[in-house]
Amino acid sequence: MSSKLRNLRQGYASLTPPQYMNFPTDQPFTDVQTFVLNSILLDGHLQRYPPSDFYQRSFWKWIISQLEALIGDEDYEVDERLYERQISLLSVTRRTQDLAGSSPPPPSYVTHFWENRSQGAPLEGLAEYGSVTLFESQTTIESGTTGLRTWRASFVLAQFLIDHPDTVRGHRVLELGSGAGFLGLVIACLQQQDGQGGRRSGLCLTDVNEVVLQRCAQNVNLPCNVSASLPHLDVRPLDWSDAVCPNLEPSTRKSLSGLDADTIVAADMLYHPDIITPFLTTLRLALLSESKLNTKTAYLALTVRNQELLDAFLHASTDIFHLCVEDISSRASGHQSSFLESERIDTENVMVIQVTADT
Ligand SMILES: C[S@@+](CC[C@H](N)C(=O)[O-])C[C@H]1O[C@@H](n2cnc3c(N)ncnc32)[C@H](O)[C@@H]1O
Repeated sequence: MSSKLRNLRQGYASLTPPQYMNFPTDQPFTDVQTFVLNSILLDGHLQRYPPSDFYQRSFWKWIISQLEALIGDEDYEVDERLYERQISLLSVTRRTQDLAGSSPPPPSYVTHFWENRSQGAPLEGLAEYGSVTLFESQTTIESGTTGLRTWRASFVLAQFLIDHPDTVRGHRVLELGSGAGFLGLVIACLQQQDGQGGRRSGLCLTDVNEVVLQRCAQNVNLPCNVSASLPHLDVRPLDWSDAVCPNLEPSTRKSLSGLDADTIVAADMLYHPDIITPFLTTLRLALLSESKLNTKTAYLALTVRNQELLDAFLHASTDIFHLCVEDISSRASGHQSSFLESERIDTENVMVIQVTADT
């Protein structure tokens, strides 16, 4: 399969707007149409976990117009099944618009793909491409939470972990503020070969919001995801505010100690100054919790929306919470993968730091 055709499928599966996709105009019409039919329209996974009708409407309109243009003077025809799909979507989306007026785009299945390569070499024991599927919101805030969609910092941190799989393979990983579960699903894929080396592994995804946790658990349990068959995966509530509440701090400390995570990850959790103290208190408890292992390390991806907020977070981390912080952004953005490209991620707006406790 050519990379241009593969990109078409990946773009559709990840709801990439057609204006950001490249149609393979240099390839024969029949090759492209056969691929579009078999690997997109009739593909079993994409039929079971389809992009929203809302997205599909723009995608199929675009594909049909591109295929028509590709025919040129040749004696070919666009397959009628593509027109049928387009027509069926017109009636569905019209009905939805009538019911909801000009409402925001509805939640949708999204499938993300990436190359299982580290430093240019294939990742041992894994297929050439990894993928995860989520049902997620297409808006910034839904049901009063930001946790029902995947944020760009998660993509950047996921790519860092794919490039450095030893950070999670054979480790007990705790995610703080996991949202809909994207990063955890990628970690589950990287951990699937665990056990062979005899090292223990585990994965615990946590969040404060009940609706978010339900969505995360649903995504973890989608049969198409590796996470669904991973025995050591847990989704549970963890509110960072509990760590600064005198009544609740002991139980938070106990629960973190019970998890005994040696790798802690969090993405895009810094969006308000009030979060800094509860989050860093929780992180420090997790980094210092009693362990049979000596080293505990956190990898955090921070979206740089506001320099003052970022500075306040970094200052509190080192000067108040006595954590060791290393900026590893260059290690995280060194490899521009198709994964980040298909999401159109600007890695410069995301800072990745490695944090350890200064004991
Ligand atoms: C911007 S979203 C990021 C979600 C996910 N990490 C991502 O990057 O796609 C922030 C997440 O932090 C969670 N969160 C906010 N305050 C929290 C708290 N006090 N304790 C635990 N999680 C919290 C939210 O519920 C939400 O899922």
